Amino acid sequence: MNIRAKMTKEFKDKSIFKQVQDYSLSYLDEVGKRDVYPTKEALQNLENFSEELPQKSMEAKDVLEFLNTNGSKATVDHLGGKYFGFVTGGVIPASLAARVLSDFWDQNSGLYVMSPIASKLEEVCESWLKELFGLPKRTVAGFVSGSSIAIFCGLAAGRYRVFKNNDWDINKKGFQGAPKIRIVAGKQAHGTVIKAVTLLGFGTDNIEWVNHDSQGRLLVSELPKLDKNTIVVLQAGNVCSGAFDDFESICTQAKEVGAWVHIDGAFGLWAAASKKLKYLTKGIEKANSFSVDGHKTLNTPYDNGIVLCDDEEALTHALHSSGSYIVHNENRDGMFYTPEMSKRARSIELWAAMKYLGRDGIEELINGFYERATELAYELEKEGFEIVNDVVFNQIMIRYKSDDLTNKIMKYIQESGTCWLGGAIWNGQSVIRISICSWVTTQEDVLITAKTFKEALSCVES
Ligand SMILES: Cc1ncc(COP(=O)(O)O)c(C=O)c1O
Repeated sequence: MNIRAKMTKEFKDKSIFKQVQDYSLSYLDEVGKRDVYPTKEALQNLENFSEELPQKSMEAKDVLEFLNTNGSKATVDHLGGKYFGFVTGGVIPASLAARVLSDFWDQNSGLYVMSPIASKLEEVCESWLKELFGLPKRTVAGFVSGSSIAIFCGLAAGRYRVFKNNDWDINKKGFQGAPKIRIVAGKQAHGTVIKAVTLLGFGTDNIEWVNHDSQGRLLVSELPKLDKNTIVVLQAGNVCSGAFDDFESICTQAKEVGAWVHIDGAFGLWAAASKKLKYLTKGIEKANSFSVDGHKTLNTPYDNGIVLCDDEEALTHALHSSGSYIVHNENRDGMFYTPEMSKRARSIELWAAMKYLGRDGIEELINGFYERATELAYELEKEGFEIVNDVVFNQIMIRYKSDDLTNKIMKYIQESGTCWLGGAIWNGQSVIRISICSWVTTQEDVLITAKTFKEALSCVES
């Protein structure tokens, strides 16, 4: 049978999709029960993938069985509620299910004519996000893979606008002989900000770094004098401490002189959607561009990021693309708001998460992270651990006496299989980082995690 005939049979027969559904549902049954991090054996089995590219076509069912057998056990249990590494987020079931459906639709969301449904839901998500974050009506959104790209887009828009204000079209003229743009960022800016600065050709040597306080917040008193040629990068949610910059006062200063402000709000921008926590984001509506993820705090499936910008012309001109074959539409063409042309329809699972949760559900989700984080910090402090940061959102930094003991405790917990967390260096010292950002995490999980810390402590001190 030739390949076409074989594939036609797969679509007709559908059994491989049922096979995958069975695997997926069995996987769900194991969530929260298996080791949070893959066992040594599961990692060793990954070697089974290291083979020559097969010469002949295989049976689809065998490919999928191979993947399930060797792959599923080598996944990290993000869905179980005790994975606290990085800022990872769980998954809203309705959003995951919508993603599965949209995967069957296999839409390219670049243009309206390629996917009217994706375009419509981009429009809806844009409007809902603006409302949730309290941003001006003129704000537009682009749907990208994550904050790394969203930051790049926001800074590209800022670069376009600042140059344009100097009568310089960066798209045409490039950097040769261009007026100088200043980049101002806190020393705690996320690594992806630095990446965007380098990709956009500014160069890290040209960043005017601003000192920060004990929580990683940019010190307003040390902010250099801003001017119309400045792009300021702030953050809503420091990746370690969860701290928020003082947007009200910095954005006001920036606005007075016409400087561009980008807010990296990968996980923290969502605080704006909670009545209890929105004090943290006071003043953000004065900024020009924002990066935020669906896949972190909102718990959509990976990957799902958003750039928001109050200057449509700057964003779309910075990311412009053209071609005689491109069919423009009076409806929304998603590719004008992102660097990619072809892209999957991320608006679908994002829409499903927001429609399912509603305003109240989103607020409950966000407040829940904060509550679990404060509970865990309390439990750990009771056991004698130092809580290094003020827990204002969902991030906790923990330390025990020395770098050595802190790292040993971290390693013990990572190997325990009970939960998983990572480390970082904060003020020159090792810390353990915990990020609470899965809806699954319960008070019981908090107690289990605190107990694991206690066991780790007695083990490393014995
Ligand atoms: C503050 C901040 N900015 C940017 C990023 C990068 O986001 P992404 O991994 O979605 O590209 C992260 C990731 O954790 C983050 O915490």
